[in-house]
Amino acid sequence: MAALVVRGVRDMLKRADFATVPRRQRHKKKWASTEPKFPATRLALQNFDMTYSVQFGDLWPSIRVSLLSEQKYGALVNNFASGDHVSAELKQLKARDFVNEAIFHREPEPENSQTVAPSPASWACSPNLRCFTFTRGDVSRFPPARRGSLGLMDYYLMDAASLLPVLALGLQPGDTVLDLCAAPGGKTLALLQTGCCRNLAANDLSTSRTSRLQRVLDNYVPQDVRDKNRVRVTSWDGRKWGELEGDTYDRVLVDVPCTTDRHSLHEEENNIFQRSRKKERQMLPMLQVQLLAAGLLATKPGGHVVYSTCSLSHLQNEYVVQGAIELLDNQYSIKVQVEDLTHFRKLFMNTFSFFPSCQVGELVIPNLMANFGPMYFCKMCRMT
Ligand SMILES: C[S@@+](CC[C@H](N)C(=O)[O-])C[C@H]1O[C@@H](n2cnc3c(N)ncnc32)[C@H](O)[C@@H]1O
Repeated sequence: MAALVVRGVRDMLKRADFATVPRRQRHKKKWASTEPKFPATRLALQNFDMTYSVQFGDLWPSIRVSLLSEQKYGALVNNFASGDHVSAELKQLKARDFVNEAIFHREPEPENSQTVAPSPASWACSPNLRCFTFTRGDVSRFPPARRGSLGLMDYYLMDAASLLPVLALGLQPGDTVLDLCAAPGGKTLALLQTGCCRNLAANDLSTSRTSRLQRVLDNYVPQDVRDKNRVRVTSWDGRKWGELEGDTYDRVLVDVPCTTDRHSLHEEENNIFQRSRKKERQMLPMLQVQLLAAGLLATKPGGHVVYSTCSLSHLQNEYVVQGAIELLDNQYSIKVQVEDLTHFRKLFMNTFSFFPSCQVGELVIPNLMANFGPMYFCKMCRMT
């Protein structure tokens, strides 16, 4: 498998070399006018059938049907807005706070357990997050969020698996935090809900998407928290962050652009499988490596990074992690260590279905009983 990983990274880097070919020497393929026009959603399904049936084998048919079915949401309670009545109302709907259930009501490890004690870093979850989901097999929906007495919305609806990268980042009080690809802002909001950010830099290359992020902050976060130089929203190219603010942050979230597998099967608009976006799609793993490398360079030695995607693709997940770690070692002599999240995965196994064979990181796979994800996340520590 290690050889496969290295070969995958090498292929990816080779493909990226294409970018250095001068434009005049590039050959542009002409499409025949009779060529049938397939919707991007169908092209996405064809692509996934080809690659994921190999990657997941017997598991693919069940992942496929789940991806094509309606997804489940979680309601992230807005700690800035509510007293306990929102949680009480969500409980009345028979939803449960999966975060606190996992952390405070977990089964004790058997005394004669052979498993090695996890390192404190992999064990620590970001605190103060409350997120309600319906139980396995219950496909009820949450009513839309409402504005509370303080004028702030009471909860934020998101794929509950999107909270896992934030939980895994393990924020500590007083942390300086960077969210490198932040818009539209679900994870930024969750980072703020922990109450741990001394300051938070939320960045996204797209200005229209940073406007959406700003609207989320306006609707969910009180002005004094937004104003006090604590939250900075920028629209820079995240790949430059290592040069802009190297060795600066305690925690960095790198939630990269990817093939957004579920979206690509359901929405024509902004679909990365449109023919016109083929090159962009092929270049994704290279962009992802560059963004992760920049995130690692922006982290203080001893600090932590979580890399995440909402794709099932090994090429965009574990290969990217391996590629970025190799790049930091070769070009900057910086050592990065992947953290074992086995213990973290066990905490949340009642709520999510995890792919059992990831080489590095964890992958939530869609399942009809728990139709969240896909969500890949990998936690790293910058050692030097
Ligand atoms: C998966 S989305 C992020 C979702 C977000 N973290 C959330 O939870 O709402 C990836 C984002 O990366 C942004 N992006 C793409 N290229 C980028 C770059 N070079 N630098 C920074 N952001 C980039 C896209 O605009 C997109 O909003």
